[in-house]
Amino acid sequence: MMGLVRGRERVVLVMVVMLVTISMMQSVSGVVLHKLGGNRYQGWKSNYNYTQWSMNEHFIVGDWLYFGYERNLFNVLQVSQTAYENCITENPIKNVTGGAGRDVFQLVAPITYYFTSSGGNYCQNGMKVAIPVVNAPPTPSTDHS
Ligand SMILES: *[C@@H]1O[C@H](CO)[C@@H](O)[C@H](O)[C@H]1NC(C)=O
Ligand SMILES: *[C@@H]1O[C@H](CO)[C@@H](O)[C@H](O)[C@H]1NC(C)=O
Repeated sequence: MMGLVRGRERVVLVMVVMLVTISMMQSVSGVVLHKLGGNRYQGWKSNYNYTQWSMNEHFIVGDWLYFGYERNLFNVLQVSQTAYENCITENPIKNVTGGAGRDVFQLVAPITYYFTSSGGNYCQNGMKVAIPVVNAPPTPSTDHS
């Protein structure tokens, strides 16, 4: 009986330690990696509506985007809002394309970022995304009770 209680207490203790550790890890590195379209390797592609995906994500300053795509077809260009709306891929703000078909991009400011791909009619076919980034909410003050 005694051993049973002690065993259960130990399980509870382990769980508490795990939860505290996880929450500490999250507050230290609360950075999120957003995978385009939710898919790891083929997430950045043509004929996909990224608006729906983007609406369900929360982009915080410091987060990263991950573009996984077919490198022989697509690329990653950060463009202006006008270029995003009109599918202009010349003179992008930044050519994020690394060459391997796996690119990351850090969202460093509380602005809306725009991305598309050149080639084909990919942009016209929906291969573009707007990423509205906000500042991290202030961390709740420590409880002094
Ligand atoms: C993409 O989805 C959004 C949100 O549902 C919708 O407003 C928009 O019209 C769609 N765009 C296309 C090209 O279908
Ligand atoms: C972006 O960079 C890739 C890889 O260096 C290159 O192939 C592509 O032509 C560039 N695109 C633009 C629009 O600069």
